[in-house]
Amino acid sequence: MLALDHVTFGYGAAPSYDFTLEALAGEVTAIRGASGSGKSTLLDLVAGFLQPASGTIRIDGDIVNDVPPEQRPVSILFQSETLFEHLTASRNVALGLPHPDAGRVAAALAELGLGDLAGQRAATLSGGQKQRVALARTLLRDKPVLLLDEPFSALDDETRATTRSIVQALTRKQKWATILVTHHADDIGAIADRVYRLESGRLAL
Ligand SMILES: Nc1ncnc2c1ncn2[C@@H]1O[C@H](COP(=O)(O)OP(=O)(O)OP(=O)(O)O)[C@@H](O)[C@H]1O
Ligand SMILES: [Mg+2]
Repeated sequence: MLALDHVTFGYGAAPSYDFTLEALAGEVTAIRGASGSGKSTLLDLVAGFLQPASGTIRIDGDIVNDVPPEQRPVSILFQSETLFEHLTASRNVALGLPHPDAGRVAAALAELGLGDLAGQRAATLSGGQKQRVALARTLLRDKPVLLLDEPFSALDDETRATTRSIVQALTRKQKWATILVTHHADDIGAIADRVYRLESGRLAL
């Protein structure tokens, strides 16, 4: 479980955010909010790229405030995640793993409907294909907390529906606490177990 207890933060001198949230293992917790409301900021705090002014971030009971990003049990797909353009789809996905595992890379690409593109350089992929390669790389990390910032934004409706079902199924199976930032009511209706709204620096159910 991921739990934030009055995690405050501000880009300026005074804190403008005060986040309290619970996201259960095996569930998709959606975050809605206007552009600029602080959704990506929230994910950066959980991932450890930003440091709270006060409050605690707990993952499975352990306070992780002082744990550096690379050691947190968290995987994150950034809103504008990029691939290494000169590397193949497979190589890009393999970068998510600490040790080479061609079988898992191939399976992850196949699951997201990208099996035929494994050997293709990222530069030659479409926007939606790139987004799914980046998602495959993030899912493969298999950490207890999964942070997804608009992960389906470049996908058509049908691919979007398939892809989010995969995210939901893996969340259940791997018992991830998944945080999904999305503007789409469809995504929320389809896979969110609980929904927080971010407004005026606070989260409300
Ligand atoms: N590094 C930064 N320094 C100063 N202000 C920042 C910084 N990053 C973001 N902000 C500001 O903080 C606010 C929240 O930004 P954030 O990226 O978290 O919004 P968001 O909810 O993710 O928006 P969107 O839906 O457009 O992605 C915005 O007003 C933004 O301009
Ligand atoms: Mg954002």
